[in-house]
Amino acid sequence: MNTTPSTVRVSLGDRSYPILIGEGLLDQPRLLVPHLIQKRVAIVTNTTIAPIYLEQFTRGLEAEAIQTLAITLPDGEAFKTWETLNIVFDRLLEARCERNTTLIALGGGVIGDICGFAAATYQRGMPFIQVPTTLLAQVDSSVGGKTAINHPLGKNMIGAFYQPKLVLADTSSLDTLPDRELSAGIAEVIKYGLIRDLAFLQWLEDNMSRLLARDRGALAYAILRSCEHKAEVVAADERESGERALLNLGHTFGHAIESGLGYGEWLHGEAVAAGTVLAAELSARMGMLTESDVGRVRRIFESARLPIRAPKLGVARYLELMGHDKKVDAGRLRLVLLRALGSAFLTAQFPEDTLAEVLSDCTFDG
Ligand code: NAD
Ligand code: GLY
Repeated sequence: MNTTPSTVRVSLGDRSYPILIGEGLLDQPRLLVPHLIQKRVAIVTNTTIAPIYLEQFTRGLEAEAIQTLAITLPDGEAFKTWETLNIVFDRLLEARCERNTTLIALGGGVIGDICGFAAATYQRGMPFIQVPTTLLAQVDSSVGGKTAINHPLGKNMIGAFYQPKLVLADTSSLDTLPDRELSAGIAEVIKYGLIRDLAFLQWLEDNMSRLLARDRGALAYAILRSCEHKAEVVAADERESGERALLNLGHTFGHAIESGLGYGEWLHGEAVAAGTVLAAELSARMGMLTESDVGRVRRIFESARLPIRAPKLGVARYLELMGHDKKVDAGRLRLVLLRALGSAFLTAQFPEDTLAEVLSDCTFDG
């Protein structure tokens, strides 16, 4: 079914762009046409998404007389590397793609982050469009222009801020998303409630079973509300000098889990869920949250079928991994904590021994 998409605008002066959210958008290539400089695009996708969506998407674009090149990458967080990035550059150069050719990311956050970084750097910058196909990418990673690849020493350590020209979120593409990936996306949706919108948190608590059952109305509302939050934060603080850092609730712990266990072992959203429980525990031990608040944090992630028990990596290892974080400032670790549910803040002022206790007491074997 094709419906009129909802639109959220990311306001960044002459780099502003719309996020279009709706069903059947992959079948409406005319939505992209006004955003193309040349009638030529290169579509970056992966080996899982290509067999499901690439032909349909490409056929539609070609029907609009748009020349297409497909670049299909291996699938997985473990491939978010320089080597994979170079595959994109090789193909763009071999096909003589130009600075005004548009790069399109068709996939989840991994494809979006790699493709965005390629677009930021190929011939010093080419236009790009995000076509996110996971819930996580539709509610978070496709919006806001953070692009990156991983380094063995730290996640998303090499990248650029580079905004897309358009985000096209086809909610029908979530029909083929595995349940585990749907839950991982819900982790980032819960995040908006925890950091800045208590009413939305309550709505998520009341509607979690609808989201897990892929109720279209519930998903559409969750995506729209999340994009509204993301667009507002990005417009206020594009390069993360303040408020945008709050979108990293649970991520410093989560990134340590992801790289500590090996990229791809836990999904990003799963690591964020368990990491957020650690951030809530620390907030409680610092006297800001009650035990009942922490229980509520645990329960909402649990109800989304997400892990709430962070793995035991050892306190020293956690601290080492968490030290490779982009929020580290003048050598000092900074964490996003909760002063209440629905209200987050960034701080370097936390007792180091309390953090060590949380990393020891609230992490688990197996
Ligand atoms: P992902 O890109 O690995 O996609 C998850 C899996 O689902 C993959 O196997 C993928 O091939 C498959 N898939 C994608 N769409 C599908 C569909 N419609 N049907 C069936 N299978 C589909 O993971 P993700 O959760 O989308 O993104 C995680 C990545 O996003 C991490 O690398 C994380 O660091 C990054 N991220 C970036 C930002 C940002 O602001 N740039 C924000 C949050 C997360
Ligand atoms: N996902 C965090 C951010 O975009 O800032």
